[in-house]
Amino acid sequence: MTTIDHDRTAVRSGYLDGPYRPIHEEHTVDDLTVVAGAVPADLDGLFVRNGSNPAFEPRGRYHWFDGDGMLHGVRFDGGRASYRNRWVRTAGLAADQEAGEARLGGILERPDFSVPGGPFKDTGNTDLVVHGNKLYALWWLSGQAHEISLPSLETVGVTDFDGTLTTSINAHPKVDPDTGEMLFTSYSMLPPYLTFGVIDPDGRVVHNEAVDLPGPRLQHDLAITPRFSVLFDMSLQWDPDQLARGRTHVRFYRDVNSRIGLAPRFGTGDEVQWFEVSPFFMYHVVNAWEEGDEVVLIGCRMAEPLADDPDNVASNDGVPILAQLRLEPVLWEWRLDRSTGVATERAIDGTLAEFPRINDAWLGRRNRWSYSPTFAAMPTLAFDGLVRHDLTDGSTVDYRYPEGWLGGEAVFAPSTDPDRTDEADGYLITLVTEAATGRSEAQVFDARDLPAGPVVRLEIPVRVPIGYHTEWVPASAWAGSDG
Ligand SMILES: [Fe+2]
Repeated sequence: MTTIDHDRTAVRSGYLDGPYRPIHEEHTVDDLTVVAGAVPADLDGLFVRNGSNPAFEPRGRYHWFDGDGMLHGVRFDGGRASYRNRWVRTAGLAADQEAGEARLGGILERPDFSVPGGPFKDTGNTDLVVHGNKLYALWWLSGQAHEISLPSLETVGVTDFDGTLTTSINAHPKVDPDTGEMLFTSYSMLPPYLTFGVIDPDGRVVHNEAVDLPGPRLQHDLAITPRFSVLFDMSLQWDPDQLARGRTHVRFYRDVNSRIGLAPRFGTGDEVQWFEVSPFFMYHVVNAWEEGDEVVLIGCRMAEPLADDPDNVASNDGVPILAQLRLEPVLWEWRLDRSTGVATERAIDGTLAEFPRINDAWLGRRNRWSYSPTFAAMPTLAFDGLVRHDLTDGSTVDYRYPEGWLGGEAVFAPSTDPDRTDEADGYLITLVTEAATGRSEAQVFDARDLPAGPVVRLEIPVRVPIGYHTEWVPASAWAGSDG
């Protein structure tokens, strides 16, 4: 067991500088200039990316996850493209603007429970999900769902799903492509430490059950299959004794197995079947599916998640650092045998990559392809290309941006051509920025031929800082509305 004390860890605010430096204006650009290639005709919808973009000078030490949410959107329509960026207009941002400064410290500072809306600001800066033709911005520390208007990207406001949501909602809910249900989790440093639930296609919470975890846990993602929500009890944990004293310490309990739980979609907390697996931490899953009695889970597993951990014999060289975390994910498979209760696990591929995406029509179903940005050789987390994994054999193909250009998560946008409905029939869309100049582009790749490079490069006349998660909103989501 090892401890990292935030108060003693040297924290560099590299995530405020260079390609991470925030921007402060909202822009609308009607017709983007094509640098090379052509916008595919079978692409009709809105690409959106969320990210951390602090509006004010941070109070105290800054963690990359602290910043206010900002959305960058590229609308593809009839072979043309337009751009806009908009803040996620949260109550916390409005209060800061009223005060003219950041009122709250970030997660590396001691939580101040005396500030209204604190101790941390729910920024909605992390994730995006489309459900019931609505777009929501969500927060990694489990907060409120901010509805975002389509396609204007203005913030409508917080929704409680017609009064049915009685907990917070975490980032990374998953929409079942067959039923239209949205599966979600909520987590907290106070009991209940984890809940799992279901929002029906009409946007009402119809199930929300507490899970009896032994203590507060770091959570991030959720996987689903047609019958199960896949839950996590990982070995990187808040120290409960320190939490009780108002201090946030993270420990990696390397001698304590992690657990992966299968919760029946509409089951109770008592019905979760837990599987012991080797200790790990993970931000993002790739996918999960059922094969007979087995549930197969694919994700980006980290075996040694703490930097400056004296019990970690692995070097930090060449591994990006994010506050106290060292990010060295390996594409990993767990097979959970429901009949025996035994899990087996193995590495699929060691390419340093994260923020995986798939064709979401295969969410919860056995799929073949995943697409992830690859780690740049930098001390902070940044991405120098894209890799496509073949999940059947672990083989890869990739594309690297020109030297000095950095990208991020690439969403899968399916083709609108009714004759192109296979898993790989679509496009990967991402934002890339030249670190030295701030020149930025939206780039679109044919998912079938990533190494060929972008099929179109669109100049964005605004510097786009490095960010987080992306979403593809088909134009049908707002058809008929006056958005
Ligand atoms: Fe995430």
